[in-house]
Amino acid sequence: MKKQWWHKKVAYQIYPKSFADSNGDGIGDLRGIIGKLDYLKELGVDIVWLSPIYASPLADQGYDIADYYRIDPRFGTMDDMDELLKEAHKRGISILMDLVVNHCSDEHEWFRKACQDPEGKYGKYFYLEHTSDPTTLCNWRSYFGGSVWEKLPGHEDYYYLHVFHRKQPDLNWENPELREDIYKMINWWLDKGLDGFRLDAIINIKKALPFKNYPADRDDGLAACTTQLHDAEGIGAFLGEMRDRCFKPHNAFTVGEVFNEKEEELPDFIGDNGYFSSMYDFLETVFGQSQKGWQDNRDITPDDYRNCVFATQKKIADIGMISNIIENHDEPRGVSRYIPEGDITPVSKKMLATVYFLLKGLPWIYQGQEIGMENLKISSIDEVDDISSIDSYQVALKAGVSEQDALRMIEKYGRDNARTPFQWNTSDHAGFTTGQPWLRVNPNYPEINFADQEQDPESIFHYYQKLIRLRKSEKYGDTLVYGDLVPYLADQHNVMAYFRQTEGQKLLVIANYQSEPRKLPLPGTVKKVLLSNLDSVKYDETSVSLEGYQVAVVEL
Ligand code: GLC
Ligand code: CA
Repeated sequence: MKKQWWHKKVAYQIYPKSFADSNGDGIGDLRGIIGKLDYLKELGVDIVWLSPIYASPLADQGYDIADYYRIDPRFGTMDDMDELLKEAHKRGISILMDLVVNHCSDEHEWFRKACQDPEGKYGKYFYLEHTSDPTTLCNWRSYFGGSVWEKLPGHEDYYYLHVFHRKQPDLNWENPELREDIYKMINWWLDKGLDGFRLDAIINIKKALPFKNYPADRDDGLAACTTQLHDAEGIGAFLGEMRDRCFKPHNAFTVGEVFNEKEEELPDFIGDNGYFSSMYDFLETVFGQSQKGWQDNRDITPDDYRNCVFATQKKIADIGMISNIIENHDEPRGVSRYIPEGDITPVSKKMLATVYFLLKGLPWIYQGQEIGMENLKISSIDEVDDISSIDSYQVALKAGVSEQDALRMIEKYGRDNARTPFQWNTSDHAGFTTGQPWLRVNPNYPEINFADQEQDPESIFHYYQKLIRLRKSEKYGDTLVYGDLVPYLADQHNVMAYFRQTEGQKLLVIANYQSEPRKLPLPGTVKKVLLSNLDSVKYDETSVSLEGYQVAVVEL
């Protein structure tokens, strides 16, 4: 792996709508983010990805873009964006935007023109099918439920494809004119000084063509549109072109949201001349997911979590630098997902933080993770904003799940969990806004908030700072960034342990992933304890005694 400027950095995701509201309208905004740059600096963050802030009807919270060249007024102005770039760069922080180019909004000018003239230039920017008989259309199910085909507004005999929401028509990447327009837009942002992008849903830009039916996987007669992805060959031509035309000339940092990749393609994706700088590891994220719907999902246990993480580490090895997360804006809070219910405490949260943060790869923190924010309780479906939760709720009810159980299911998997406002302090609405927040604040903010944690040297926030300092340290940085990862005691129940090693240095991260204390063997003499989530680590020549959810990072 060739060394890159970003390998030793720490990255952070901001969900702008819920981060900090500067003008009291209940919606987080760019000026709110500018006001928190010093906070990010204090935490130790170097790279920040902003979820979409482009002009959008917000049907999918900004992942439906109506104008790629404009900032949505709810988030601010282009001047605010320029100021954010300037102020971030002053502090040595790089800014990434979300690149959402599998689809745009049905309110984008291209789509409006396509509706006016389906056979004209812009009709070819989308996937339109001309038929008066919708039963002839292929049976793919969109990610948010229902058929991927929707009648083209103003026409009785045209349908357009949307693999996500019906307000997110898919862009036709097979059309070189569309690709040119996309590259022009990317280069416009990079020329402006943007440092790179997170590439949204990027694997979907290649479809298995010609359209055809797949065996139905639910009673609705449809097949998940991930099924066709297995047959979609040749995405590399698009991604390589985008890299060469946009990212490479600007030396931009890019991270792909890639699901369903083919293993043999990994070097093409994130190798030295990969399409992207990095991509996320989602193996544990998707663990236990069922084609049938959320009601059929399986919980992930500590052993499953460890096995997924190690499988990715093995697969990636030295091909490139994977991006490690425990949560993002589409997922439940990591602490609520990966720590067994009833065991979620500051100690176990720090354990989880340690075992994922020190993996080989670029560590990402999702806003609020650094203070241990948790999932949200819901008492009625009316409180739910997330379109994917609302669809999954209906699917569950149809499958015979009770309303109560369906709500519990959304509490577990829903996307609102990560989207509740950031908990800054104990004042009204957790200090996120002086107005009415667009989404409920998690009522646990009096116990979980930044202001309290800032005062408490033992807080999760300060623990994350320690992790960041350790990964960036002169003495251990090279090993933690470039050293091999070798699993240790990988067949032991509720243990997550691994070595990070280079020639001349060997570190051991060892965690007791359960509430009962235990003794574990040590493979060598401890030279130094570098970090633990408890005051002391008890060890002798041959073993270490760990309390429930204790983790230790030691030099051997
Ligand atoms: C990605 C985004 C998600 C969005 C979807 C469609 O998965 O992370 O939030 O709904 O793409 O753009
Ligand atoms: Ca605002």
